[in-house]
Amino acid sequence: MFPAGIPRLAAVTGWPLTATRSPLLHNYWCDTLGIEGLYCAIPLPPEAFERGIRTMQSLGFRGSNVTIPHKEAAFALVDRRTRAADRAGAVNTLIFEEDGTITGDCTDGTGYLASLSEAGIAMPRKALVLGAGGASRAICAALLDSGCSLLLANRTTARAAELVEALGGGTVVPWERWPESLPEVSLLVNTTALGMGGQGDYDWSAALGGAAPDLAVSDIVYMPLETPLLAAARARGLATVDGLGMLIHQARPGFAAWFGRMPGEDPAGVTEEGSMAALRARVVATLG
Ligand code: ATR
Repeated sequence: MFPAGIPRLAAVTGWPLTATRSPLLHNYWCDTLGIEGLYCAIPLPPEAFERGIRTMQSLGFRGSNVTIPHKEAAFALVDRRTRAADRAGAVNTLIFEEDGTITGDCTDGTGYLASLSEAGIAMPRKALVLGAGGASRAICAALLDSGCSLLLANRTTARAAELVEALGGGTVVPWERWPESLPEVSLLVNTTALGMGGQGDYDWSAALGGAAPDLAVSDIVYMPLETPLLAAARARGLATVDGLGMLIHQARPGFAAWFGRMPGEDPAGVTEEGSMAALRARVVATLG
């Protein structure tokens, strides 16, 4: 049983967890929705992950977000998983149930799709995803499960082939030749570390040369908010979607499970203070 008469508790766990914006999001929603709740950051090194989660359960926490490097450990720890978690092969949201069991969800893929929709981008019929890590898998699964055709390019081709195999859909494109596929797709998603810049001088502008004018370009990185890819896309007049929307939207289902209200149901917000735009501005202010 959860303790009565005290604020609801939830957290994010990760290691080293120095750059997390999750407490800002959840505590903002608690404040603006008038919910007595507290969301904190709990750094847990890998060897302390399971013990830390069990301790949080015994202290009456409602659940936790899970970030790098614990998403696979969380996948293995839970008593049941949502289909999205099974498809992603990872868990980013733990829901501590009243009976002591734990449900694991992965909201990264649906959070990404919600960020597209919020940016006014229609669900693509065909998308090209760059990268084949954990974030890519969640996004690829969500795209495929929404009926989108998928092209996947990764520096290490074997990893892309494994992902296509695991998800039962998508076509691998050689890394060096991904720009040639652009005319076929209406969405480009970058999930690689190239997005952050400082990884050598990748010529995004040249790579986007064959893009159709209605191509939407997104990057899941939000530091920097305008990545070199997004800057190149904007210079070409293409629609762009930054990584902040995914960060915000992946947080919403966990908040609803722990604190009892789905934040941002009304895109305009109940009040200006409570709006998604105001929250976005708060997060942007922390990015420096
Ligand atoms: P995450 O779980 O955050 O997606 P990850 O599993 O470390 O992170 O995956 C990082 C992705 O960025 C991989 O697709 C990686 O390509 P490889 O599989 O070939 O390693 C990609 N990546 C990292 N640095 C890159 C670079 N300089 N050029 C191209 N791709 C890069």
